[in-house]
Amino acid sequence: MHVLVIGSGAREHALLLALKRDPQVSGLSVAPGNAGTARIADQHDVDVSSADAVVALARKVGADLVVIGPEVPLVLGVADAVRAAGIACFGPGKDAARIEGSKAFAKDVMTAAGVRTATSEIVDNPGHLDAALGRFGPAVGQRAWVVKDDGLAAGKGVVVTDDRAAARAHAAGLLDDGHPVLLESFLDGPEVSLFCVVDGETVIPLLPAQDFKRVGDGDTGPNTGGMGAYAPLPWLPDEITRQIVDDVVKPVAAEMVRRGCPFSGLLYAGLAITSAGPAVVEFNCRFGDPETQSVLALLESPLGELLHAAATGTLDRVEPLRWRPGSAVTVVVAAENYPGRPRVGDVITGADADGVLHAGTARRDDGAVVSSGGRVLAVVGTGPDLTAARASAYATAGAVRLPGSHFRSDIGLRAERGEISV
Ligand code: GLY
Repeated sequence: MHVLVIGSGAREHALLLALKRDPQVSGLSVAPGNAGTARIADQHDVDVSSADAVVALARKVGADLVVIGPEVPLVLGVADAVRAAGIACFGPGKDAARIEGSKAFAKDVMTAAGVRTATSEIVDNPGHLDAALGRFGPAVGQRAWVVKDDGLAAGKGVVVTDDRAAARAHAAGLLDDGHPVLLESFLDGPEVSLFCVVDGETVIPLLPAQDFKRVGDGDTGPNTGGMGAYAPLPWLPDEITRQIVDDVVKPVAAEMVRRGCPFSGLLYAGLAITSAGPAVVEFNCRFGDPETQSVLALLESPLGELLHAAATGTLDRVEPLRWRPGSAVTVVVAAENYPGRPRVGDVITGADADGVLHAGTARRDDGAVVSSGGRVLAVVGTGPDLTAARASAYATAGAVRLPGSHFRSDIGLRAERGEISV
């Protein structure tokens, strides 16, 4: 089976590495990729938000399966075009991708499916903003205001703050740019990312993971696309994972089928484990980054077979997944000034080491690997437990040299110390 992976991040690098381990996968292509993925797949520089370009490339490389990593091509309907061309595609069509592309659509599906989530309100008129802010946050006894862009914003459209002026400024800025704002109630409790491979009403959960969205240690500073992750979660009882699958993901998958937009691909449930049980923070329509790097590091089952089964409607025939024992920790090495405008073009050393996945990297004409984006590398460490996996990830991250770069030093630390409970 020849697999074409669409995307250019460390998530796609992790997908390619896991696909390469599958004996049924005979060839790998990637578009547009990065300096790391170029070492393991044929690389093609095409516009991945163009359905015509992706279909043409899939035909050219003879792809038996196309795996779409990022949300933007999914929301634009690229998976529909690939399927219409007669090629199996892992990723939802445009209608189903609204579960991520429109937070209002996601709320509607969750309400119909009876799934617990934050209460919310859309504000699209600046004149209504102040009154709406008064119905959320510390104004009504919640710990913080949660202000989101009602669209795709790569994780950076979210501000969670107990400072009303900061909440108002973010919302007003979004409205000035013509983006409707979603205000949500704050969900208290540790967060879980549960990725499920879904094909209609068939749901196969992967290992639960946790990501770290703020840029600084101790969850300080602005939100990012994700600064690190670990899997599995030693503090999360299996019973709660089962509850998330049965009471959250399966009802949502069934509701999508009922609406005539069945989900096929990776349904990512982001949840808070509140004192009243799991509640959904958001759904995404694709693998999460950087959790995927930790989760796939522990997958023993063949990934190509799993994704192909979902793409061809045969997921119900897949054997139970097998996992390596132990833990995986991912530490993101970010460029100077990220999540603001990142410094780029610096030479990186240590980027070829084992466990180093590439994100914002490019190869210069002279062969040097240089930084080309905000999140530059994702360093993955595995081990028999979280302590060993953290030690491995941080030893490798510490050996990377990139001027001005930074990473969090506390990925998985509270879990390692047993400080998280539900
Ligand atoms: N881990 C956050 C995301 O992928 O959106």
